[in-house]
Amino acid sequence: MPVDPIFEPIAFRNLSVKNRIFRSNVSGRFDNYDGSGNQARINWETKFARGGVGAIVSSFVPVTIRGRIVPNYATVDCDARIPFWRALGNAVHEHDCRFIMQLSHGGRQRDIPGIEYEQGWSATERDEPLHGFPCVAMTRAQIDETVAAFAAGARRARAADLDGVELHAANGYLFTQFLSSAINDRDDDYGGPLRQRARFLLEVVAAIRAEVGTDFHLQVKISAEDHNDAIDRNEKPGNTLEETVEVCKWLDAAGVDAIHVSSGSYFPHPRNPAGEFPVDELVKTYDQLLSSGSHALRNYLLFRLEPTQRLFEERWEKARGDRIEGINLPAAKAIKAVVGVPILCTGGFQTAEVIREAIRQQFCDAVTIARPLIANNDLVQQFAAGMGRPARPCTYCNKCLVNAVENPLGCYDQTRFDSREAMIAQIMSVFTPAPFE
Ligand SMILES: Cc1cc2nc3c(=O)[nH]c(=O)nc-3n(C[C@H](O)[C@H](O)[C@H](O)COP(=O)(O)O)c2cc1C
Ligand code: SF4
Repeated sequence: MPVDPIFEPIAFRNLSVKNRIFRSNVSGRFDNYDGSGNQARINWETKFARGGVGAIVSSFVPVTIRGRIVPNYATVDCDARIPFWRALGNAVHEHDCRFIMQLSHGGRQRDIPGIEYEQGWSATERDEPLHGFPCVAMTRAQIDETVAAFAAGARRARAADLDGVELHAANGYLFTQFLSSAINDRDDDYGGPLRQRARFLLEVVAAIRAEVGTDFHLQVKISAEDHNDAIDRNEKPGNTLEETVEVCKWLDAAGVDAIHVSSGSYFPHPRNPAGEFPVDELVKTYDQLLSSGSHALRNYLLFRLEPTQRLFEERWEKARGDRIEGINLPAAKAIKAVVGVPILCTGGFQTAEVIREAIRQQFCDAVTIARPLIANNDLVQQFAAGMGRPARPCTYCNKCLVNAVENPLGCYDQTRFDSREAMIAQIMSVFTPAPFE
C-alpha cells in the first residue's frame, strides 16, 4: 500500500520531522508580565504534541522587550529565559514532536504597548495604522542592535536544546515593515529597491549563521503578497508575489533551511487568518486595546455602530476571496518552483485529502495549521485513524483570535460544544497542571 503523504517523514538540512503537519504559530497571553515563562504555556504546547503534530512552531517570541506586541508572552531577550524554554522543549520532545521557536519583533505593530516603551521602532516613522501607535524610523545603530538581538535569541534557543528557529518576517511585524514597498519609506541603504528593503532580514540571517553555525535549523515565515490595500483603498498594495519570489531566492542563497508561506502586510488581515471578522465578539474584548493609540475613538465608533460594523465585515470577507482552505497554496507553489529548500504552507488546512493533494502536487512539502488544531488538538490522530475531516471542524469564525487579546487562547465557537460549560472547561484546561501545585 502506498505511504500516506501526510505521514511520510520530512528531512530538512538540519532537522527531521515525523510527519507533514506542523502546528502553526499561535500566541496567547499565558505568561508573566515581565516575559518569564509560565506552566500554562507548557501545558498549552504539550496538548498539540500529544495530539500528534510532527513539529510545533511557537507563538510570537519577542527578541527584545521593545519588540513585544503585548505583555504576558514569554520572551527570549535574556539568558535567564533559557531554562524555561528548555523545560518546554523537553515536555514537547517526550511526544516525539519537534519545537521551533519563532524569533519575533513587532516594530510599530503592537496590540497593547505595555509600560516600558512609548514608541516602537520601525522602518518608518508613520504611526501603526490600526490603533495609531507612534513609532520612530530606526537609526543604523538601532538596526545593528536589533540584528544582534535576533542572533542572541537564536543562540538561546539552541542553548535550550530546541530544534530550530523561525524568523517572523510575515504579517506586518518588523521585518515586513522593512520588506514592504507600502510601508518602508526610507531613503537610506535599508529602503528603496527590493534588495535594500530585504537587507535587514538578510543581515539577521547572516548574523544568526555567524552565531549558531550552519547546522541549526533556521526557517523564515514570509508574506507572499502584501495586499496592503485590502481594507483601506487609499493605501498602496505593497509587495507582489514576484517580489517575494526574489526575496525567497536570496534567503535560499543565504542558507535558510525552509520557507513558511503566509500573506498580508498587517495582522489580522482578511487573508490571514482567513474567515469571518466577528465584530460582535470583538466589542467584548476591544476595550483592552482602547486605552492607547490615536485611533481609539475612531475604532470604538467603527466597531460599535451597526452600519459601519456590517460595512467592515462585508469588506473583510470580500477582500479574502472564495477560498479559505489552502488560500496560500498558489503562492507556495510559485515559491517552491524557484528555491531548493522545503516549503511549509499555512492557511485553513483541516481536510486530509486537501493536504495530501497539496503535497502530492508539489504545492508545498508540509502544511502548518493554527485554528483547526485549536479546535481539534488531536486532528493528526483523527487523520491517522482514517477520518478525512473532524466531526466538529473549525468554522473559521475567528472568535479565538478576537478573544486572545483579553481572554485565554482557545476555541470560542460555542456551536462546536455541547454547552457553554463544556467550551469554558476546554479553554480553562490549559491551567492544569497549575504552576504551584
Ligand atoms: C489566535 C491566533 C494567534 C496567532 N498568532 C500568530 C503568531 O504569533 N505568529 C504567527 O506567525 N502567526 C500567528 N497566527 C497566524 C497562524 O499561525 C496561521 O498562519 C493563520 O492562522 C492561518 O492558519 P489557520 O487557517 O490554520 O489558522 C495566529 C493566528 C491566530 C488565530
Ligand atoms: S474559535 Fe474555534 S471554530 Fe472559531 S476559528 Fe477559532 S478555533 Fe476555529
